[in-house]
Amino acid sequence: MSRVVIIGSGIAGLFAALKLEKAGHEVIIITKQRPKDSSTNWAQGGIAGILDKTDGKAMESHIADTLLSGDGLCDEEIVRCVVEEAGDRIRDLLAVGVEFEREGEDFHYVKEGGHTSRRILHAKDATGAEIERALNKAVTESDRITMRAHTLGVDLIQRTHGNAENGIKGIWCLCLDSGDMEAIAADAVLIATGGCGQLWERTTNPSVATGDGLAMAVRAGAASRDMAFFQFHPTALMSNNKKPFLITEALRGEGGVLLDNSGLKNYRASDEEPNLFSFTLDFSPQGSLATRDVVARACDQKMKITGADNVWLVTNHLDSGKLHNHFPTIESRLNELGLSLGRDPLPVAPAAHYMVGGLKVDIQGRVLMQNGNPMPGLYAIGEVACTGMHGANRLASNSLLEAVVFANKASEHFVANPIENLEQVPNWRAEGMKQLQEHAPLVRDLETLKKTMTDDVGIVRSFDRLERAKRMLKLLANEVDLIWRKSIPTRELVELRNLVLVATHITEDALNRSENKGLHWNKDLI
Ligand code: SIN
Repeated sequence: MSRVVIIGSGIAGLFAALKLEKAGHEVIIITKQRPKDSSTNWAQGGIAGILDKTDGKAMESHIADTLLSGDGLCDEEIVRCVVEEAGDRIRDLLAVGVEFEREGEDFHYVKEGGHTSRRILHAKDATGAEIERALNKAVTESDRITMRAHTLGVDLIQRTHGNAENGIKGIWCLCLDSGDMEAIAADAVLIATGGCGQLWERTTNPSVATGDGLAMAVRAGAASRDMAFFQFHPTALMSNNKKPFLITEALRGEGGVLLDNSGLKNYRASDEEPNLFSFTLDFSPQGSLATRDVVARACDQKMKITGADNVWLVTNHLDSGKLHNHFPTIESRLNELGLSLGRDPLPVAPAAHYMVGGLKVDIQGRVLMQNGNPMPGLYAIGEVACTGMHGANRLASNSLLEAVVFANKASEHFVANPIENLEQVPNWRAEGMKQLQEHAPLVRDLETLKKTMTDDVGIVRSFDRLERAKRMLKLLANEVDLIWRKSIPTRELVELRNLVLVATHITEDALNRSENKGLHWNKDLI
């Protein structure tokens, strides 16, 4: 029996834990907050996938939509293998107890931007929460899985210090309840820490999305890939400076339409369909249901030109009974804000949503080093990993699918090639370190970081702005490093250190690109 440490308790981490424990391994999951606090839990739309393996036409269509959305940069072999495995992995989720919406004997499918047909399974507008419920329940029932909540992974422990080639033998963690550092020995570590939306001022991500897994693997010698491609979701609700709230693309799949101020005025003065007035048609014939990169850019451009803080999502032409039935989470949030779904135009604007790039992994989910070889004992799955599936722009609802397929692949690979070599792990170096006396510099640095990423590394970029961000990030990295070297780690310090590193990878990848593809849009390259 080997011991595997999984960092993160979203769909990828929990799914892999169940597969590994079934094969007889001991699993320790460490997670920063409560087990359900993950981006998965906030996923509204659903999981794309064809259940019927014999339906070649439907599979080819899902593959084609994914490739088109990825703007020529998807790895087609990976796309094929994920789409072809969808049925088996979705059946695994059903077997664990996930309940997707049904329609008679079949499932009910929704559509989102870039999909040419309805192929997304969902649980109303809270699909991720349903998946987390079922997976966490199964994990709790297992004797071989230990869930360590309120535990933050800080750094990976190498078998030979300073030598990535020899692999990983454990992880140093910060127990957030006690403030103590702890070393946990492992035969393998699976990183499933999700993304880094907290780099921007407006994000649909939970507060835990601070790029921790990516940063710790990079520090241990891992390679990152495609970091410039960060996806902004076009429709996050804007209201009274409250945290942006995702309005699922499935609402546009049901006919919701994006309008700017003048489009809204003209629509209101007419008896016509709202679609006729949508500015998104100037960007794509698919209008409000074009791929996410196109729609987010359209919204951003419209807001910049008109000076408006938001565009509008209108739903008053849709069947209010259906809206009420399909979107209860959104409806109740809107009601709290005094807005009514199916009546009021909803003020929306883009917000940072999904890290398309990530740790470079192979088809087994093994983390690759700079030299292209896998780092022994280290896997990455889910949003933190870059498999090549999403290319330059992820197709909506492909992420939960990719996460389960690669969680399965990584687990299978470990089960077939187990490492059983638990070694002693060294304690965290604590000599000379002091409690952080002043938190203000970290707060200011985090504000500066978010402002820099929002202003200079957002939806539309330029070389000057990216260079400016690079200089600022260098300064921030130095400042944070000075504090890091002399302080006992705290959550805010660990996260800030990670965020600055991930931001640097995003900015450098963006600077190195000489063409605009998908989510990377540099106006100097038009
Ligand atoms: C949404 O529901 O619009 C988000 C789904 C996704 O990011 O795939």
